[in-house]
Amino acid sequence: MKGVVLAGGTGSRLYPLTKVTNKHLLPVYDKPMIYYPLQTLTEAGIKDILLVSGRGHVGHFLELLGSGSEFGVRISYEIQKDAGGIAQALGLAQRFAGQDSVMVILGDNIFQDNVGDAARSFRSGAMIFLKPVPDAHRFGVAEVDEVNGRVVSIEEKPARPRSSYAVTGLYIYDSEVFDIISSLKPSARGELEITDVNNEYLRRGRLSYSILNGYWSDAGTFESLYRASELVREHRLGAGQGMIPADVKPVITL
Ligand code: G1P
Repeated sequence: MKGVVLAGGTGSRLYPLTKVTNKHLLPVYDKPMIYYPLQTLTEAGIKDILLVSGRGHVGHFLELLGSGSEFGVRISYEIQKDAGGIAQALGLAQRFAGQDSVMVILGDNIFQDNVGDAARSFRSGAMIFLKPVPDAHRFGVAEVDEVNGRVVSIEEKPARPRSSYAVTGLYIYDSEVFDIISSLKPSARGELEITDVNNEYLRRGRLSYSILNGYWSDAGTFESLYRASELVREHRLGAGQGMIPADVKPVITL
């Protein structure tokens, strides 16, 4: 399995912090934000990682992360010319992925769980990672039938969420994902939505889910960025060697 970190976008919700730099280079406690998603992938045993970012910032990531050898991985870079959404950015990873499955992570998502077991048990289709939250309307929201271990529906930022399960910014896809992306139409906000990708897997009966046990935060707003730093600090993560303890594992439903 290969890894893809999506670190594009304009970071408009964090302006003026993002006026001259990329959101994913801002600090979360004592590390640049991008370190955390990279750590999630490397701890899952992924060695080959593609980082997708906008034209103006890709050089900064290269300066910070280089070839990845410092982290024991190989990092390649791809440029997203316009901010056309998460699914469009993922589409740029097609050549990199080839026939392999990919673990995809949003560059502003901070996870405590070690998702190595999920990566190793994945065979085909798609897997999403869910976390109960008090403010589900801010996210993609999944309704699940926990008795039968099935996802029932996924809605992007619904005014009235059908559950408290946020769809976090961590996904595993097989290589079918690229055909699905090429058939997508832009949403009302003019973007190719990752929720539409997940809904297509759901329609095909090929979507599984896993519920995270550890903490999770995005870091794309002032409040969530602040909270992410607090969470990391509280759990003393990112301090010292920057290693997240490997004992927090998600509950997987196939
Ligand atoms: C994106 C996805 C959403 C997901 C969220 C996780 O939203 O569209 O489904 O729940 O990431 O961070 P965004 O924050 O890009 O609006």
